[in-house]
Amino acid sequence: MAASEFAAVEDAVHLVLDRQQLSPNVTRLVVAAPRIAQVRKAGQFVIVRLGPGAERIPLTIAKVDAAAGTIDLVIQAVGKSTFDLCELQPGDAITDVAGPLGKPTELITSGHAVLVGGGVGTAVIQPIAQALHASGVRVTSVIGGRSREWVILEEELRQVGDVVTCTDDGSYGRHGFVTEALRDLIAAGGVDVVYAVGPVPMMRAVAQLTQPAGVPTYASLNAIMVDGTGMCGGCRVSVGGETRYACVDGPEFDAHLVDFSLLSDRLTTYRDFEQQALERREACRIGALSAQAARVEAAAAPTEGAPA
Ligand code: FAD
Ligand code: FES
Ligand code: MG
Repeated sequence: MAASEFAAVEDAVHLVLDRQQLSPNVTRLVVAAPRIAQVRKAGQFVIVRLGPGAERIPLTIAKVDAAAGTIDLVIQAVGKSTFDLCELQPGDAITDVAGPLGKPTELITSGHAVLVGGGVGTAVIQPIAQALHASGVRVTSVIGGRSREWVILEEELRQVGDVVTCTDDGSYGRHGFVTEALRDLIAAGGVDVVYAVGPVPMMRAVAQLTQPAGVPTYASLNAIMVDGTGMCGGCRVSVGGETRYACVDGPEFDAHLVDFSLLSDRLTTYRDFEQQALERREACRIGALSAQAARVEAAAAPTEGAPA
């Protein structure tokens, strides 16, 4: 390979510069991606491929530092690819980070916005909250987790507005689901728009709450994506009876028009393969650990003829 080709390969690799564990299964990686950091807008995402042979997965650009040339990825470990990414350490590299992709969030420019984040959806609302705050909009973030240790990014969101934190077990903040807190905010009036990001049942419940109240609502759809460019059709969703591609037409859509049942069905399409990939990953790790233990044991064992 010519020297110039080496340079091109090196240029394409994205170094992990920092890593932080935000909750038992959510990790923040600060990744070098100078060109993306320059141009990304709130609501956009990247398609990441850890290395050769790895699958491509979409991740929201949670935060950028354009001067430092970095983007933050906040990743919830749910399957093979996300477990692999969450294990990266500073100094490791990601082969491909393509983006920014998707349409930026449609931001209101005045009034009161309520952002509802369930689980890792909190990482997706973070850039939206920052952008709304920067344009003078009042922001209330409603975030939740199973218990206190699963709540993420609360401090960051407090810097750009009010935060209502909910835990399922009542161990921190308000006891109950984010949708219950949202119901109270809607009942109090004065909410101009709602942005919802999280598991499908949560986004559906938010849409069902805000529709009768006539509050415009956007949901960020977590459809399965492959190329992220509108070519493969993997991310198709139904909005207002029309087929749309979440990667290029979204990922945010009018939540009152989304067919959440179809989205939910499509998310389970590859579940058997995903389970097998995770099981193979676990088996490889156990194999590698056993081999390592055997090597350590062999190294520690007295050699033949040596004094015991
Ligand atoms: P798997 O075991 O392969 O899959 C677990 C579940 O994740 C599947 O059942 C399916 O519902 C979903 N999934 C699997 N493959 C894909 C795929 N290629 N694209 C989308 N969903 C998939 N997660 C985060 O932790 N942080 C984020 O910031 C984030 N942002 C996202 C932004 C967008 C626009 C979308 C569409 C998804 C985002 N996700 C985010 C979800 C993330 O892409 C999936 O959790 C991830 O792809 C799962 O891969 P896996 O191999 O670890 O798990
Ligand atoms: Fe292929 Fe959207 S991910 S069309
Ligand atoms: Mg996968």
